[in-house]
Amino acid sequence: MRRFLIAGNWKMNTNSESAKSLASDVAAGAGNHTEKVCVLLCPPFPYLALAKEAVNGTDVKIGAQDVYFESPGAFTGEVSVDMLSDVGCFATIIGHSERRHVLGEDDVTINKKVKAALAGGLGAVLCVGELLEERDAGNTETVLDTQMAGGLVDITSEQMEKIVIAYEPVWAIGTGKVATPDQAESVHAHLRNWLESRYNSDVAESTRILYGGSVKANNARTLLEQQNVDGALVGGASLKADSFVPIIEAAADLSTS
Ligand code: 13P
Repeated sequence: MRRFLIAGNWKMNTNSESAKSLASDVAAGAGNHTEKVCVLLCPPFPYLALAKEAVNGTDVKIGAQDVYFESPGAFTGEVSVDMLSDVGCFATIIGHSERRHVLGEDDVTINKKVKAALAGGLGAVLCVGELLEERDAGNTETVLDTQMAGGLVDITSEQMEKIVIAYEPVWAIGTGKVATPDQAESVHAHLRNWLESRYNSDVAESTRILYGGSVKANNARTLLEQQNVDGALVGGASLKADSFVPIIEAAADLSTS
């Protein structure tokens, strides 16, 4: 049985004060829901350590939004896997749509990052998603298959235990245009089939596939109710405990374990 994972991607938001209070408010609001639901908060790099401190003693985990694939050395501006582990990160997001489309990251780079994260003991939330024009042209599945294959080159079925897939249609990110539950379910089922053919049925059954893109308290439940939706990667609504905690509550409510 896959446990729901509700992850907050704070993107380039918050400051030291708001990051600290947001992390502790979410931890307080998540309370004993973390017995049923995994909660991951992904603040900007400068606030990882203080967010970690704010959730200490709770089951809320801290993750990064990106990582560099090289070992520590002369890579100005970059942050290594070791550094993320050192400040208490459990995982990192990799291949987010904004990194692909604003910062120009390709599947080769994304795959290097996935490999480096796993080699250093960090979990990876690998993001995939199609542009609106790709969906309109009927190419959603081809685009996703390419991103999955590219991001997971050389990743073994054992390593898949540390990987979560996040399906984030680019047209739904920050636009308020959430995918319908049917649209999300159809893509998630496709991704699970892809995992079965690339790996095996165990990997397909155990890998969590999150949905991301305009998830809010008022639409989370119908998305999370879908058989193949195992959680949410939340942007805007993760920036306030009042809008994020109800998403955790919806997942807890739907959990059978
Ligand atoms: P929004 O929830 O703001 O649409 O962002 C989604 C996202 O990109 C999460 O990684």
